[in-house]
Amino acid sequence: MSIDFTSGRESVRKLTDPAFNGFDDGEVSLRPQSLTDYIGQEKAKGNLRVYIEAARQRGEPLDHVLLHGPPGLGKTTLATIIANEMGVDIRKTSGPAIEKPRDLAALLTNLNDNDILFVDEIHRMNRAVEEILYPAMEDGEIDIILGQGPSANSIRLELKKFTLIGATTRSGQLSAPLRDRFGVILKLELYEPEELQKIVERSAGLLKIGIDKGGSMEIARRSRGTPRIANRMLRRVRDFAQVMADGVITKEVADDALNRMEVDQLGLDAIDRRLLQSIILHYGGGPVGLDTLAATINEEAVTIEDVYEPFLMQQGFLTRTPRGRCATRLAYAHLGLPYPEQPAKRPGLDGQIGFED
Ligand code: ADE
Repeated sequence: MSIDFTSGRESVRKLTDPAFNGFDDGEVSLRPQSLTDYIGQEKAKGNLRVYIEAARQRGEPLDHVLLHGPPGLGKTTLATIIANEMGVDIRKTSGPAIEKPRDLAALLTNLNDNDILFVDEIHRMNRAVEEILYPAMEDGEIDIILGQGPSANSIRLELKKFTLIGATTRSGQLSAPLRDRFGVILKLELYEPEELQKIVERSAGLLKIGIDKGGSMEIARRSRGTPRIANRMLRRVRDFAQVMADGVITKEVADDALNRMEVDQLGLDAIDRRLLQSIILHYGGGPVGLDTLAATINEEAVTIEDVYEPFLMQQGFLTRTPRGRCATRLAYAHLGLPYPEQPAKRPGLDGQIGFED
């Protein structure tokens, strides 16, 4: 039912990287197919149910939908569910995969009535392509330019009615005209441990993995609010349970396995800790600008912003100030470092080495 045009993502394969979306680890088979099976995101799900029901009653396509939030929270899954619930086909592509306006024109003209076009990483679409999208979304038509130079002329094509679902980790990078053309904007939030526990239990059931409540909660607590990470951890912890225990994932087995994989008690991985340590040890706790920090720990600024910071901020380890990033008292405590009590040495106050870039 779905065709995948998504380009490969150059991402280091690692246990806690929510942006790594390799299909080889069987993630797809765990994806829920209906809203009823989709756990969490209650606010987005509740609103979606209404919009889907209303559009179905009217026999119309759903209005264009923008899904935004950190990677690994289920944006693609939700788009597939919307297609299932609407009873239509979905074509999947991504912003960087659509290189030329004619690539997008080909996708759009091949859609059937009420179909969904899913564009992942829509913020990475180039401007020339984006401009084709405006009249397509608004008036259901596109202008195609034939020929080149003075003899070029354009023809207008009427499209079938369709729904665009755009997904992005960075809604702030969308141009205002594009953003304004989405009738439904849904923000996905990091999951609570109880929700992730249900996801882990559901996945364990599908994969026939033995796990008890303590084991599922331990994985849930340490998967940085992200189902993709929770499911990946589940498989790796299963390996430990199989080889080093009696095959069942208990709290102790999960704890031991995750410690060995350098995921700490609160779910921070080696890079999270390096990032906080660097702010504290090199920049007096901050503020330090994102690019400076990225260069210091040798990670990409966008990865820090999209992947590491949302979790560290949610957990209260990091703050973003107008002058840069600061480590909080909690971060010092977690890393076992003494928090400077003198006001002038506190993060975010004057007298620091840090600067925003
Ligand atoms: N697998 C990944 N995300 C999920 C979700 N939100 N609900 C159920 N299973 C999932």
